[in-house]
Amino acid sequence: MSIPRVRSQRLRFNRVLRDLVAEVSISPSNLISPMFVKEDLDEPAPIRSMPGVFQHTPVSVQAHVKELLSAGVRAIILFGIPTHKDAQGSEASNPSGFLHRTVREVKDVFGDDVLVVTDLCLDEYTDHGHCGILTGSGHIDNDATLQRYAEIAISQAEAGADLIAPSGMMDGQVEAIRNALDSAGRTMIPIMAYTAKFASAFYGPFRDAAECAPAFGDRRSYQMDFRNRREAVREAILDDMEGADVIMVKPAGHYLDIISDLREATDLPVAAFQVSGEYSMLRAGADAGYFALDVAMEETLIAIKRAGATLIITYFALEAARLFR
Ligand code: PBG
Repeated sequence: MSIPRVRSQRLRFNRVLRDLVAEVSISPSNLISPMFVKEDLDEPAPIRSMPGVFQHTPVSVQAHVKELLSAGVRAIILFGIPTHKDAQGSEASNPSGFLHRTVREVKDVFGDDVLVVTDLCLDEYTDHGHCGILTGSGHIDNDATLQRYAEIAISQAEAGADLIAPSGMMDGQVEAIRNALDSAGRTMIPIMAYTAKFASAFYGPFRDAAECAPAFGDRRSYQMDFRNRREAVREAILDDMEGADVIMVKPAGHYLDIISDLREATDLPVAAFQVSGEYSMLRAGADAGYFALDVAMEETLIAIKRAGATLIITYFALEAARLFR
């Protein structure tokens, strides 16, 4: 009997060899940490469905950013939770609102050491919890919403946001925001478009965290249908044409085919958002003792990277950065 001449196991023999030939790695500089900031909050509040994640006060944000920086994570994406909500989501574009103040304060303290990304959407700011303005019959008014997004973009840019990330899945949102930023003289502020954002059960914990569950209905008339793969490529081409600088896939872990497709579809950097439900699932499994958190976390993040994502937005940013450093 002959022995195998080709042995894949030769390069798996020890850790150094494996690291030497590893095709993918993660660096803290590729990670973005999501952060929730709540108006009128006195101290950080734990989020029931996301153990280990907190709603921050505009002040506690600072300490957390410091912690992230010391681990090598230099980008955050901010989600605001206002006290006042109305049909137009007025607070979202209020230049002296708490989120805008928070952006200003973070930039004042940390300058260009930290990149502040602002999520641009209306769901946290509207009393009905939808991502846009509604028509009289309760449907999304896409084009009226674009007008609001343009105002929000300008207000966020004026507050000092470094990168603007529209997440509402309105048609034409990238172009509307690009035009608004350019006409306000903010030509150098890049847009990270939530390009292929699917209507997903895995946003459940986020709606707790950001207090933005829709008061009626769901988001299926504007977010993507998770049965569709080719449509995501179409969305990517559109966002590229509209002027997006980075395109995003969301959620990440169950959408690796989409990440891979988008990597091929354009030459823009691809971001992936490992969403709240993905985080909470891993956390819960680890807390129940079903697997070790570190290893499972690494496996999911590497898989997202391997599929073609360059940037990863993850609630594990701090822990992952410490792990991969
Ligand atoms: C909308 C927005 C959502 C998330 C990011 N931006 C919620 C939604 O579309 O329902 C979800 C993020 C997560 O689940 O971690 N502003």
